[in-house]
Amino acid sequence: MSTTIENRGQFGSKLGFILSAAGSAVGLGNIWKFPGKAYNNGGGSFLVIYILMVAIIGTTVMLAEFVLGRKTQKNAIGALRELNEKYSWVGGLGVLTGFIILCYYCQVGGWTIKYIIAYLTESATVYADPTAYFLNMLGVNGFPLQGAIIFPLIFLALTSFIISRGVADGIEKLSKFLMPLLFILLIGLMIRACTLPGAGEGVAYMLHFDPSKINGNSFLVALGQAFFSLSLGMGVMITYASYLSKEDNLISNTGVVCVLDTCVALFAGFMIIPAVCATGIDPGMGGGFAFATLAGVFMSIPGGTIFGLLFYSLLFFAAITSSISILEGTVAFLVEEKGMERKKTVVYVSMVLFVIGVFYTLSQAYMNIKGIWWSLDGVQFPILGDFMEYLTDRLLLPFGAFFTTVFVGWIWGTDNAIKEATSDGKYKFSLAPAWAFLVKFAAPIAILCIIIAGLFLGMSIA
Ligand code: TRP
Repeated sequence: MSTTIENRGQFGSKLGFILSAAGSAVGLGNIWKFPGKAYNNGGGSFLVIYILMVAIIGTTVMLAEFVLGRKTQKNAIGALRELNEKYSWVGGLGVLTGFIILCYYCQVGGWTIKYIIAYLTESATVYADPTAYFLNMLGVNGFPLQGAIIFPLIFLALTSFIISRGVADGIEKLSKFLMPLLFILLIGLMIRACTLPGAGEGVAYMLHFDPSKINGNSFLVALGQAFFSLSLGMGVMITYASYLSKEDNLISNTGVVCVLDTCVALFAGFMIIPAVCATGIDPGMGGGFAFATLAGVFMSIPGGTIFGLLFYSLLFFAAITSSISILEGTVAFLVEEKGMERKKTVVYVSMVLFVIGVFYTLSQAYMNIKGIWWSLDGVQFPILGDFMEYLTDRLLLPFGAFFTTVFVGWIWGTDNAIKEATSDGKYKFSLAPAWAFLVKFAAPIAILCIIIAGLFLGMSIA
């Protein structure tokens, strides 16, 4: 067991677990990624597909991860090793996934810090031209020293510090207070955005279900987003559930975490898309909705600067509780499997991922090309940002989830899993036969289709 894990101890309460799992799940994925995907994939049509994906596949995989974690009382790698030595290599794949996600997660996390400071010191400059302010941070007018280097470095340093010191305990206590605050603020902002003059079109777009807008790609995007948003596919939820006791009801916990996470994504969607219509601010690149578009909303609210400050502070907090969970997964593997020293590992891993991450922000604007490829002297390269998301959301996370379901469904067996899920029959699980079917057949087949389609249909991740 790693020091952080020991330091963090057992979850003191049921709420502590839910908050930690929800803290990992609720992050940039919900507020920064989700609205853009909904916007690009048909609004209301995408919401329906997304909710179906979460309800059918997301919950299935989450319960599978919870069951593995509590059964073995080990972190992701240890859990696999204990149940079947042959499969610990999957842990290595999870490390790669987390590493790639963190490369860009820390960049965007850094942008939240930049915006906190902007709202403290120069909100008038942001309001003067929100899109220009955002693009400027990304480097359209010159090297983005702040957007790509300084603030991401601060974000990463904070994440690493928390991981290497094991102060995650304090984070958990803070979550109890800040997560509900985030929830309330999002609802308030959503109501404000939906009632802005001109927002009606955006609301209608998000509520309109148009089957003709649904295509194969909608499913690919929705499932990849669901895994990312629920923190599934790299064993984070295995580790978190390993601190639970038989007293805890895994089935209801699965429901609560999935519902909370999805509500946050929906609130963000209904906050940002109507705001795009009302303010006309469509930054067009680099997932700027959460940054540029919302500035237009804050501008329109009395005391908007305070709300803006609060919003970016909470977004920062949501991002860091997620980045901690990702870095912890990566570091734990290297420490436990490869016998590396913990603090050194944190520093080395962080340095490498930081250097790669810089190119993420650069590729958003400095190279100033939108699309999958950019070309240099006639040679084509994938745009790093899109490529990273493609690798993680389309291939690696689904693969991790596929493996989890196959492992639970076929190798360990659904009878054992259901016994664990119900705490040996203590809790009622009326959907057990359906879940068994999903874990064994429906989920792995659906996920496999997505992986294969992703491999052959190319890399559109919008
Ligand atoms: N779920 C987080 C978000 O929505 C990101 C995240 C945290 C994650 N831990 C993860 C994604 C593990 C995949 C796997 O922002």
